[in-house]
Amino acid sequence: MANFVPVDDFDLVIFGGTGDLALRKLLPALYHRVSDGQITGHSRIIAASRGAISRDDYLAMVEEALRANLPQGDFSDEQWHVLRDRIYYAQCDALAADQWNDLVGFLDSTGGRVRVAYLATAPSLFGPIAKGLKQNGLITSTSRIVLEKPLGHDYESACTINDQVGECFAENQIYRIDHYLGKETVQNLLALRFANSLFEPLWRRGSIDHVQITVAEELGVGGRIEYYDKIGALRDMVQNHLMQLVCLVAMESPSSLHHDAVRDEKIKVLRAIRSISDENLKANTVRGQYKAGAIDGGAVAGYLDELNGATSSTETFVALKLEIDNWRWSNVPFYVRTGKRLPAKHSEIMIQFHDVPHSIFPEQKYEVQANRLTIRLQPDEGVQLSLMAKEPGPGGFDLRPVSLDLSFEETFGIRYPDAYERLLMEVLRGNPALFMRRDEVEAAWHFIDSIIEGWEATSHKVESYVAGSWGPTGSSSLLDRDGRNWTPDV
Ligand code: BG6
Repeated sequence: MANFVPVDDFDLVIFGGTGDLALRKLLPALYHRVSDGQITGHSRIIAASRGAISRDDYLAMVEEALRANLPQGDFSDEQWHVLRDRIYYAQCDALAADQWNDLVGFLDSTGGRVRVAYLATAPSLFGPIAKGLKQNGLITSTSRIVLEKPLGHDYESACTINDQVGECFAENQIYRIDHYLGKETVQNLLALRFANSLFEPLWRRGSIDHVQITVAEELGVGGRIEYYDKIGALRDMVQNHLMQLVCLVAMESPSSLHHDAVRDEKIKVLRAIRSISDENLKANTVRGQYKAGAIDGGAVAGYLDELNGATSSTETFVALKLEIDNWRWSNVPFYVRTGKRLPAKHSEIMIQFHDVPHSIFPEQKYEVQANRLTIRLQPDEGVQLSLMAKEPGPGGFDLRPVSLDLSFEETFGIRYPDAYERLLMEVLRGNPALFMRRDEVEAAWHFIDSIIEGWEATSHKVESYVAGSWGPTGSSSLLDRDGRNWTPDV
């Protein structure tokens, strides 16, 4: 059981305090940290938003959101009262110079404690809010600013945001969130690789045939369609979450867990990923968009139906073949895919080892299969190693694939905290290791931009796929061409 060390008193200002992220993710995360006794003393959570809402009305909104979003049975009146005493509401229009007084009133006398501005707003407001905080004298030496993704929509817009925020905050005060880095199993990848000597000699081209990363979602785009239609899966999921997973699998061992040691290794991977542009675009990228289908026996609408029949070539599925040009990974492809309206919410990293060089076993009922190490991110977080074993019995010598299966939940017997719980605590403690540094975000955009430009220049086709399937046929062909298959589906 983890040891919960309380954090020092803080003021956390959530810009976008009435928005979806604040109500669905941040406040439930804070509720759990209060329940576990990690937030104590006189800490304050100040929700800031444009609306003229009373504190009581805001508290009613939060209570309703907690009841709806906490796992069943987790809400208790007692804990809610501990949390509600710490929640305040400030009316603030970040774009109006005369609309900051409320917030200034909350903050002007608490300069010494940790002060965090969490920007759960549109990225276009990141620069203006940072500026407003500076102009109103709200930035202290203990201030930190948290930027939610998406950090821009391309390399240039990300640089602009980074410049604007950088004029007001030092780089070590800026926390760029990628919530995948707060997921327990993603951190367990570091433990698996660097707290066990077993894997390191095998973690390279001589032993590994290829790597697959799948982040599949059952949900469609739903209420976010207006935003999503301008973004698509490549920007929404690959630029951040999947690229970060690739980095953690592929990076060299950092010299310590110091934030810059880890991030220095990740940036080397991002810079070594071979660029995908016009010439290699067709062979290495697949875009898909879901059409009507069924998931778990229930009919679901297609993406264009959700757009009320408008035309759109926005991808809701993307698969890429990545090559990392360094000694460790030369000729070991990393296949990554993500999509909405796939058959299940299922995310995993699969390391496929080489076939045995020569089989000594006579013809078998089960073919000798190469070993696989699967790290399951969600659901049922765990690690699985597939092996070949001999079937028990005195006659013959029959082999069968079996697996060593570790379920973290069964082993540790605790609720797995949401990524935001961890990330909020890391910000309050002042540890930026699980956040993206400016150069990482910009390098990832650089890579993504050339794919998007290539798609536009070559009018790269968006293939449709039936909702509830594993994506368009092009996705299977991507691996088929290399004599491989995606797992877990085919
Ligand atoms: C977000 C994306 O960053 O991650 C969403 O914007 C996506 O489109 C979500 O649904 C997936 O996160 P998780 O934690 O549910 O895998």
